[in-house]
Amino acid sequence: MSQAEFALDEGLCYLNHAAVSPWPQRTVRAVERFADENARLGSRHFVRWQQIEQELRDYLRQLINAADIEEIALLKSTSEALSVVAWGIDWQAGDQVVITDQEFPSNRIVWESLRCLGVEVIEADISKRRDSAESAVIDAITARTRLVSVSAVQYSSGLALDLVAIGAACRRREVAFCVDAIQSIGARPFDVQACQADFVMADGHKWMLGPEGLALFYCRREWLSRLMLRQYGWHMVEAMGDFDNRDWQPAHSARRFECGSPNMLGTHALHASVSLLLEIGSQKIHELISEKASYLIDKLNKNGFNILSEVHPDRRAGIITFERPGVNTSDLYDYLQAQGVICALRGGGIRFSPHFYTPEAVLERALSLVLAFE
Ligand SMILES: Cc1ncc(COP(=O)(O)O)c(C=O)c1O
Repeated sequence: MSQAEFALDEGLCYLNHAAVSPWPQRTVRAVERFADENARLGSRHFVRWQQIEQELRDYLRQLINAADIEEIALLKSTSEALSVVAWGIDWQAGDQVVITDQEFPSNRIVWESLRCLGVEVIEADISKRRDSAESAVIDAITARTRLVSVSAVQYSSGLALDLVAIGAACRRREVAFCVDAIQSIGARPFDVQACQADFVMADGHKWMLGPEGLALFYCRREWLSRLMLRQYGWHMVEAMGDFDNRDWQPAHSARRFECGSPNMLGTHALHASVSLLLEIGSQKIHELISEKASYLIDKLNKNGFNILSEVHPDRRAGIITFERPGVNTSDLYDYLQAQGVICALRGGGIRFSPHFYTPEAVLERALSLVLAFE
């Protein structure tokens, strides 16, 4: 069933889901239908489009086990959602934010941007304390810490942190907990209630198999009215559509973070993509990805490669980064690209990121090319 959903060119080894994913066929069809409808009818059925949008919110709610659809906003990127959080808190000079030393720039720069307010960014060194990365994060919390922000899965080391442990520690110390989940949601189960996150963000174009430009932003109910708003417009008010109302209030739901017209094209696409994920189930997807990761790690190990990413099945999602001693990684990357192995150069190695549907033949071909390179 799932294989038929993908129509990648033959000969292409697509191992780049941690960057940008190809779309399933149902997503391609949803976009085609939407384009056709726009050409013929314009926005005549806008109300139906809004229903798709609501359904998408609910799909995303299910995917992360959020308590309420009202905690879900649709923003344009992970970075935008991080910015909404960072610039929505009433910081005092001397406040601290804890991140890790492995974060993708989006989850570092945004906190560093607060230095002008006197906010200090503390980087927990999880690279040195790989086996106890959670303790490294928790140990970095001080009496001045207001927020901890980590990636659920690190973009280059592939390390999947124990969010439940970090979330519990944050809750005990009344520290807000923010999770950049773009490398996790769609690749492994994510339970926002179990990990007690206050904020979660993830763009749709990686493991959720959707288009770029549409991101999930979860904001715990208690925080909805606490985050200061920085973007305003017709769409974020409670009485949306009542254009004559001069006495506006921000929406009581997370829609308050969506200032203007929604990305309806992206909504139709992501709606289709996430429906596939829900049909298969996060646990099943995780198991399938994990099998592929184990296969790759095993073969690479046997052939003398260094695995730079996390290898323990409980501590990884879909990212496998490696290098070959004596081989120039950048040359190997160029060679793979030229041979149609779509992957990434990250953290000093080659990053492979297969998804649940990636056929074994693709893994074998990619490996044989890696092994053939001198
Ligand atoms: C961990 C992580 N966070 C954030 C981003 C950027 O996401 P966006 O483009 O949606 O802001 C990436 C992209 O690679 C990422 O890997």
